[in-house]
Amino acid sequence: MTTAILSALPEEQSSLVQHLSHPQRLMHAGRAFWRGELQGRPVVLALSGIGKVAAATTATALVERFGVARMVFTGVAGGVGEGVQVGDVVVASEYLQHDMDASPLFPRWEVPGYARSRFACDAALSALLSGAARAYLASAEGQLGLNSMGGQVPATSAAPRVHEGLVASGDRFVCAASEALHLRGTLQAAGHDVLAVEMEGAAVAQVCQDYGRPFAAVRTISDRADDTAHVDFPAFVRTVATRYAEHILLGFMQKL
Ligand code: ADE
Repeated sequence: MTTAILSALPEEQSSLVQHLSHPQRLMHAGRAFWRGELQGRPVVLALSGIGKVAAATTATALVERFGVARMVFTGVAGGVGEGVQVGDVVVASEYLQHDMDASPLFPRWEVPGYARSRFACDAALSALLSGAARAYLASAEGQLGLNSMGGQVPATSAAPRVHEGLVASGDRFVCAASEALHLRGTLQAAGHDVLAVEMEGAAVAQVCQDYGRPFAAVRTISDRADDTAHVDFPAFVRTVATRYAEHILLGFMQKL
């Protein structure tokens, strides 16, 4: 049973490629895929690209061309939930598209044809991801993660935490505090308590639902989706998020 590991950004993928045994690079649909073994188990490492359409194409290729049995997404996200801080980790329990709006034909956020707005992640895979994330953050290496930003990350009062809950995807980089507040508030008023925003996960969750493949996702919080969201983003991805992804996914593959 082959596991697909999707990353949004090349930096995140390359930290995992280094650990592959029998690596084999293949191009398909204009994307690079890496086949090999991680912790002795067959994997395909894939780049999702940025945004929902690119991610859906990658996810579809992973099923149709590579026959993967399950998918795990690793990447970064903007924290919008209360207490979801830079350097924390969010494991998605469900996904929603925050920019889906076919109202008044369908209720706001409902995906037409699916009679739902939320797509559930696989509980067993998510539990493994949470366990691996907690183990990493508790380790000496995990404690170093944020410090490697050399003080660029605002000091948080608490140690990094793992959160589990709803993540929202949309084709927008949310980078205004007012927008983040509005997005969270309108969703909350409809009973959707969102922890974080990103740009791909809900698309992959929908493709996995279509093909009956289990899906789980782990996101490192790179920003608070506010007016400074873009400032340290590249440095954060390079120095912190790649390290989180590498260690959490290696721990996950070991327990699979
Ligand atoms: N990924 C990381 N931060 C994000 C943000 N603020 N908005 C959307 N996607 C993100």
